[in-house]
Amino acid sequence: MSAILKRLSLGVLVLQTTGLVLCMRYSRTLPAVGPLYLASSAVLLSEVLKMLTCLLIIYKEHRFILSATYLNLLEEIVHRPLDTLKLAVPSAIYTLQNNLLYVALSNLDAATYQVTYQLKILTTALFTVVMLKRKLAWHHCLSLSLLTLGVIFVQFPAGSVARPESHGTPLVGLFAVLLACFSSGFAGVYFERILKGSRQSVWLRNIQMGLFGSFFALVGVLVRDWEQVHKAGLLQGYNSLTWIVVILQAVGGLVVAAVIKYADNILKGFATSLSIVLSSLISYMLLQDFMPSMLFTIGALLVIGATFLYGYEPKEPSNLVKI
Ligand code: C5P
Repeated sequence: MSAILKRLSLGVLVLQTTGLVLCMRYSRTLPAVGPLYLASSAVLLSEVLKMLTCLLIIYKEHRFILSATYLNLLEEIVHRPLDTLKLAVPSAIYTLQNNLLYVALSNLDAATYQVTYQLKILTTALFTVVMLKRKLAWHHCLSLSLLTLGVIFVQFPAGSVARPESHGTPLVGLFAVLLACFSSGFAGVYFERILKGSRQSVWLRNIQMGLFGSFFALVGVLVRDWEQVHKAGLLQGYNSLTWIVVILQAVGGLVVAAVIKYADNILKGFATSLSIVLSSLISYMLLQDFMPSMLFTIGALLVIGATFLYGYEPKEPSNLVKI
């Protein structure tokens, strides 16, 4: 059963990441009639939506009995404040990470940003070894190196053109994205340790995460966009595509948590790398100018090959003797 959940959660993560990248790109670039929606409000709504979904799942687990659900939440969240507070750590780090990525994107062009951010696969592996005391076999290390190389190749656009919009201080952007790589690796592995070190459900953990996440996201709205919210409301510029982005982002949070629970953070890196290949292909096809460069093809093959290599399980020596 858990092997099925592992594959299912990884597959859904590939589809969700691909869908989110494409929809977000369209939602931010399509010419809108009014003002563009506020990114901070979308983040807040997806946090709230994620929490409501988890509440609904827990309500269903308690056979739709309100009092039983309430008592369970009271017991697990309010009466265990230290346990709940533990989740403030990854939640705060993820908020910091989102802000760092904003700084990174203001100072680096998108391609450099995406290439550099893939280094989080390596920091995740590092934190997995250090914090979870998990050993990596030689073929894991080889596949991680091939994956990083493949993603770098894929990210170099065909016939790369100079980017005139590149403003800012590249060194500041580089520093921000490198810091985000460490924060992504640390927060992911920390969350994995909490999830796998207790018997509490992933849904309950997500409610605890969502409580802090919503608070930090609300602070983000107030600090960054309060004036605009005051003038035109929280939902200014929203259309159906914006709601799809909000829903996909909320689903993403749930799927990331499920992947960390049933698989691990390193496999999460593979799923997102595969989705980079997929979203690049779909994006090129939608624009009807699909001409994969040599580097793209080699990179895509490296990513797919690395994914299979990582999943390869050498036969036990005892099995070999039996045969
Ligand atoms: O780039 P990275 O893989 O570290 O991003 C993970 C994302 O998943 C973060 O934006 C974080 O907010 C989200 N997440 C979540 N709920 C969890 C774990 C991660 O929303 N339980």
